Amino acid sequence: MGEAGGPASTRADQKSFAERAKATVTRRDFLIGAGAGAATAAVVLGGTAVATKAIQPAQQTTSTTSGANLSTLPATMRRVELSIDGVKHTVVVDNRESLWETMNFQLGLSNSNLGCDRAQCGACAVLVNGKSVNSCTVLSARLGRGQEIKTVAGLATGPGVAGLHPIQRAFWLEGGFQCGICTRGFIMSTVALLAANPKPTDVQIAEALSGNICRCGEYAKVYKSVQTAAAEMRGEKVTYRATPVVVDVAKQAAQTPVATGVSKDFQFVTPLATIEEFDPLAAAVKKNDGVTDVSGNERSITVKWDPAKLDEAKVRTILTNSGHPVR
Ligand code: FES
Ligand code: FES
Repeated sequence: MGEAGGPASTRADQKSFAERAKATVTRRDFLIGAGAGAATAAVVLGGTAVATKAIQPAQQTTSTTSGANLSTLPATMRRVELSIDGVKHTVVVDNRESLWETMNFQLGLSNSNLGCDRAQCGACAVLVNGKSVNSCTVLSARLGRGQEIKTVAGLATGPGVAGLHPIQRAFWLEGGFQCGICTRGFIMSTVALLAANPKPTDVQIAEALSGNICRCGEYAKVYKSVQTAAAEMRGEKVTYRATPVVVDVAKQAAQTPVATGVSKDFQFVTPLATIEEFDPLAAAVKKNDGVTDVSGNERSITVKWDPAKLDEAKVRTILTNSGHPVR
């Protein structure tokens, strides 16, 4: 019998499968083939994994474009509209390009960490229609059909600890991390778990998070973080071990002014030369009346503004006047 109780495969079947397998360029083959010019490095910077990948020009994916003519695309490319944390991004992707690669290299969204790049560690986990998936392994070309992609950047609702999603807050205050490489993936898998099971046992947590690996071995605190977050999400008052007092989240939230307004991601026409240029730019943009928050990186900038004072056209003008026009 073959797999799943099917009939045993014939010698001819095996031959044709072998031939097909030989003719197929696997993801690993692709990466190894690209290895002559592609180097991947995960670097721990303040608890955040930053991956850099140098790709030879011939292997670079087409950069983000909203005007690409579908009929002119080669068969190896697709134009897709990715909905990430509620923002739609139209982008032309290589059929072999992972969601993680698209988010980081094309969209400048460093919202998930890259660990193994082989679907083994879960560090890169994001949600697709509520399911936790490894963004290093899901192909962007398959995600342009209305799927909702959620990353850790889409969880918080306001500034400070009070503005964090309960799961983020629990990981932070319970110390459910050490180096932090795995944390975003654990948080996203926990979001999926608690949506399906609001009161999991430790055994169920271990099962649900079995695709996430913590090389620092902080599992005990990770499980405690999940239990604490689950309790808070069930409406129970929680006490954090890391703090000497009970955290009254509702009171904190009431005291913390929550930034309101309209928020939009913009791509720089010309990326900044280095990330170090971003903070001075953000500080200058924040000085404009009506701008309530600025974040981003060398490729993109997210501006939040008060709609009573500004609109998108005025924000674009502010960015142009700062010397960094956006698309
Ligand atoms: S980086 Fe995606 S599973 Fe490890
Ligand atoms: S905190 Fe370091 S890998 Fe999990």
